[in-house]
Amino acid sequence: MVSYKDLGLVNTREMFAKAIKGGYAIPAFNFNNMEQLQAIIQAAVETNSPVILQVSKGARQYANQTLLRYMAEGAVEYAKELGCKNPQIVLHLDHGDSFELCKSCIDMGFSSVMIDGSHLPYDENVALTKKVVEYAHQFDVTVEGELGVLAGVEDEVSAEHHTYTKPEEVVDFVTKTGCDSLAISIGTSHGANKFKPEQCTRNADGILVPPPLRFDVLEGVEKELPGFPIVLHGASSVPQEEVATINKYGGALKDAIGIPEEQLRKAAKSAVCKINIDSDSRLAMTAAVREVFATKPAEFDPRKYLGPARDNMKKLYKHKIEDVLGSAGKGGCCC
Ligand code: G3H
Ligand code: 13P
Ligand code: ZN
Repeated sequence: MVSYKDLGLVNTREMFAKAIKGGYAIPAFNFNNMEQLQAIIQAAVETNSPVILQVSKGARQYANQTLLRYMAEGAVEYAKELGCKNPQIVLHLDHGDSFELCKSCIDMGFSSVMIDGSHLPYDENVALTKKVVEYAHQFDVTVEGELGVLAGVEDEVSAEHHTYTKPEEVVDFVTKTGCDSLAISIGTSHGANKFKPEQCTRNADGILVPPPLRFDVLEGVEKELPGFPIVLHGASSVPQEEVATINKYGGALKDAIGIPEEQLRKAAKSAVCKINIDSDSRLAMTAAVREVFATKPAEFDPRKYLGPARDNMKKLYKHKIEDVLGSAGKGGCCC
């Protein structure tokens, strides 16, 4: 059993309380490899932002669970080396789908876990989330639950349509489970194709405009649970310049469309205090790698294409922190 406290990590409790009070959201960025992690930590330190490092079940399988845990421990030391006095870094399991997976992460030093029972019947979701909370809280690990189903694919589970969170269920769920934060469904979805063109309208320049998020559902949840931490999954904006670069250099991304950043800015000012972003980082990485491959075909040193990929991801993370989520200056780097 390793305690996250011994690794220099923190849980989400205080971070979320400050974020709700301050009207900003904490970035939750997924990582699967060293370049992503370096880019996240550099961006968080340079902007003095708290940050949540997310590891999915797929990431654990891809990179090895033990290696990822040591990388997160290394990330705390790396942040200090970059000049951050008191790094505010959470290591979080993204979309945990079983008690055993959550327990394994808690036992190896994660400071926060998500148990995603959103696809289960309500009572089963309550029972599973409660079981994880009871285990996690013994070690002061915080737990994110989910109510409502996002359209799209989450790990191996996929849903054709959104099932929006029902505000009338949230008090019962939070009371019965004791979870520390709640992911809700208000129209975001995972991946780079969040909306079909027929769901969108076109603006004067012919650009596709997606349907707005269901802020009425968010307001309903906030009314039922004043001041309770709310999480948004599937919050990538799918930057069209990255999509254009990918397609220019041989990619084939069709109808890639995300959540407009102004809507995320609005959400971040509410009780939404954690915003999950993964696909945008994948797009930034892929665009940079494709450009090097296409423009420098003789290049075969991975540092020469993974380096530009890292730079491009860092630029993206800083933009999210500074211009979208509003968490810049809220970390512990200077004091
Ligand atoms: O919500 C899903 C995250 O983007 C993680 O994706 O399961 O492919 O690692 P993954
Ligand atoms: P995106 O696919 O929109 O980046 O969402 C990521 C996410 O929700 C991770 O849990
Ligand atoms: Zn998610």
